[in-house]
Amino acid sequence: MIQEKKSRKITFDYWKHLYAHRTNNMLSSEIRDLLSLSARPDIISFAGGLPEVRALNYQKLERYIKRAVKIDGDVSLQYGTSEGYYPLKTKLVEVMKMEGIEVNEEDMIITTGGQQAIDLLAKIFLNPGDVIIVEAPSYTGALNSFKSYEPEIVSIPVDKDGIKTQQLEDVLEELYKKNTQVKFIYIVTNFSNPSGVTTSLERRRKLLDLAKKYNTVIIEDNPYGMLRFEGKSIPSLKELDLKRNDQIVIYISTLSKIFAPGLRIGWIVAPHPILEKINIAIQSADLCTSSLTQRIAYEYFSDPTWKENIEKFIRIYRERRDTMLKALEESFPEEATWSKPEGGFFIWLKLPEYLNTKEILADAVTNKVAYVPGTGFYVDGRGKNEARLSFSTEGPERIERGINILAKVIKDKMSLYKKFL
Ligand SMILES: Cc1ncc(COP(=O)(O)O)c(C=O)c1O
Repeated sequence: MIQEKKSRKITFDYWKHLYAHRTNNMLSSEIRDLLSLSARPDIISFAGGLPEVRALNYQKLERYIKRAVKIDGDVSLQYGTSEGYYPLKTKLVEVMKMEGIEVNEEDMIITTGGQQAIDLLAKIFLNPGDVIIVEAPSYTGALNSFKSYEPEIVSIPVDKDGIKTQQLEDVLEELYKKNTQVKFIYIVTNFSNPSGVTTSLERRRKLLDLAKKYNTVIIEDNPYGMLRFEGKSIPSLKELDLKRNDQIVIYISTLSKIFAPGLRIGWIVAPHPILEKINIAIQSADLCTSSLTQRIAYEYFSDPTWKENIEKFIRIYRERRDTMLKALEESFPEEATWSKPEGGFFIWLKLPEYLNTKEILADAVTNKVAYVPGTGFYVDGRGKNEARLSFSTEGPERIERGINILAKVIKDKMSLYKKFL
């Protein structure tokens, strides 16, 4: 295995006067430094949500890669169209059908991961000062991308049923009265990153009603929908939108969680005029998504056993979630609460308000456990006493140990505070 190079040494930044304003919004360097430690093997990491790629059959993958080069090297090693590799689109149409979304190849564009899909959408929709709406807490990768286009981000809290649609309606009405156009609403509908929450059917319907009434679109980001461990799946916003023929949902997904993130393949399903704009944006972003990885993904989805891998992933993540929930229940102080996701990668933790998860992280890392503090998932400084715990990365034994360590760190902090309160 090739070892990572040593991390970069940050010295005095002589170039500060040259950077664009958008760089001001990037993740605070203390958290970044602490989290970079979480890549060390001695640290039990609940920080990054890494998919368990080791569950894949590497021998089979080797065959797919060989075929991609041997049979089809002229295509795999060449530039592709910015639309994406058509045969892979045909496979993705089948994948989406399994989730209840019936579209065809012309309705989608393949992107370099879901992250690029988010960034391209922000690029084509946002002028500085435009208003967008997100859930609170929301996916940091999306927030950071949005921020770089300098919009005003309005965040609406989530509860156990997803985004609070009554509050959303009040905000939309207020903005409407001020003649302010909301450019889009961004939402992760299933087992959200970071909250683990799934938007209920009632709220999904209400969201669609509101987007229509206030003449905006919804970006539905669904990387985790196929990783449901229990309960009944809920129709996606896109499926409901297609049935209503409203054309107000832009759908994003990715192969990162159902196959492997190293391929960097995602996709966007949207009304055709929007896809036209995305197509042009791709041409200035990266010309096209990697022909080689798209060709490999095509091989992967041509082998029906890919569905067995989803079942395997579900078994693995379900066991890890159960282990984490049990350990939390057994070891955490009763003042703490957490979400109970029915799928995906994440549990959202809330501690008493006097605690600061950024401060606790330093102690946790000293004790060899890492997580992500809550503030990075909000745009307004909230989340100080909250944190995201990912259960996807570590095996059950390390999860149990890590949660017990974290419980002790938190309890020690609490008793210290109680002494002085
Ligand atoms: C909600 C959400 N959207 C998008 C992404 C980006 O995924 P990728 O770029 O690997 O497809 C992630 C990754 O964690 C995510 O959690």
